[in-house]
Amino acid sequence: MSKTISGFSKLTKQEKINWLVNNYLNKNVEAEKTLKKYWNSDEKLQQLHDDFIENTISNFYLPYAIAPNFIINGKVYTIPMAVEESSVVAAASLVAKFWSDRGGFQAEVISTAKIGHVHFMYNGCKDELQVYFSNRKSELLEATESITKNMRKRGGGILDIKLVDKTTELKNYYQLEVTFETKDSMGANFINSCLEAIAKALQREDIEIVMSILSNYVPQCLVRAEVSCPISDFAKEEPHYYAEKFYNAVQIANAEPYRAVTHNKGIMNGIDAVVIATGNDFRAVEAGAHAYAARSGKYRSLTNCSVENDIFKFWIEIPLALGTVGGLTALHPLAKLSLDILQHPSAEELMMIVAVAGLAQNFAALKALTTTGIQQGHMKMHLQNILHQLGANTNERDLLLNYFKDRHVTYNVVAETLEQLKVTKTLK
Ligand code: MEV
Repeated sequence: MSKTISGFSKLTKQEKINWLVNNYLNKNVEAEKTLKKYWNSDEKLQQLHDDFIENTISNFYLPYAIAPNFIINGKVYTIPMAVEESSVVAAASLVAKFWSDRGGFQAEVISTAKIGHVHFMYNGCKDELQVYFSNRKSELLEATESITKNMRKRGGGILDIKLVDKTTELKNYYQLEVTFETKDSMGANFINSCLEAIAKALQREDIEIVMSILSNYVPQCLVRAEVSCPISDFAKEEPHYYAEKFYNAVQIANAEPYRAVTHNKGIMNGIDAVVIATGNDFRAVEAGAHAYAARSGKYRSLTNCSVENDIFKFWIEIPLALGTVGGLTALHPLAKLSLDILQHPSAEELMMIVAVAGLAQNFAALKALTTTGIQQGHMKMHLQNILHQLGANTNERDLLLNYFKDRHVTYNVVAETLEQLKVTKTLK
């Protein structure tokens, strides 16, 4: 019988594992071994990871890879990616090379503002509230001075604060909408601390503060990345036909939400991988990106395409709240290393790199989908995983990787072929 427990967080790591193994894992000693296999032998490093969250009992690895040959605004990057999906890095590398032969990626940051709210209820006279707000505005800002001091030195801080009447959407609901510039930090803690200080200063008997929190919807923290080439350079064979087909694939993702979700998922394959590798918050980025994709009232593609005047053009516009200082970027040794690999980018430069990773991934997916189909490449990459799963040894793995170079890969076919190899020692 599974059990509940109180005071769990106070147990030692070993006690937590004992409790888990005894109550949920049939006292299986192998389970404990698996957990411990992933502990780091460097105790300081392990302690660092233990302290990121509560109740840590092990580490969960993701492969950490690099995709070289990205040219962005004329500068060459090797992009670090943390991702488990087999085809993502291979696709990024291929696309980087493809576009590096065609002038690379162009990117620009359109805006960098972030927004947070003090959400509150007020049942009195609207005009009186407006007067109260106007009179207190400078005091509300003053209440954040000690928090914003360093940020102001770096050129950031609070850009604006306004009272918003939301009572048509919800009875008695108002907001203070505060706009921030957080420079190279993602700024979540900074924004939330400012908002809580502002809420405190706003307080009055007839104002009920419900909550103070940043928004992960950041349409004013926007970046654009683009590739383009003469249509004749788009493909070796029938470039006009395939460029048109590619264009149609993007239009379908704009017209059909079922397709748009998968299309954007492919974009996030690239985006999340870099966001994670650089110690940024991929849940925030995901939530914000999908909200942006639905900004017209319908969920659409985050990328766009044109095939005009003999030029193929493909671009992405996406909101990205990222940091290159503070948070995990300062704590996680691999996040730090990722930023070293990227040559210490500013947050704006990282926005461009991440947008490019998303655009590249979408390009790879659409190119495959509109030509050979996606499975060929996917299953080839997946073959490694299948062979691992089937317990193939190194020799068998090499033979089978070679054997399936020009054959169709499915789990069953690989299993049967491996079996045949084990029995007959040959491959037909
Ligand atoms: C798979 O992770 C991503 C794709 O499905 C994206 C797409 O269909 O565009 C290949």
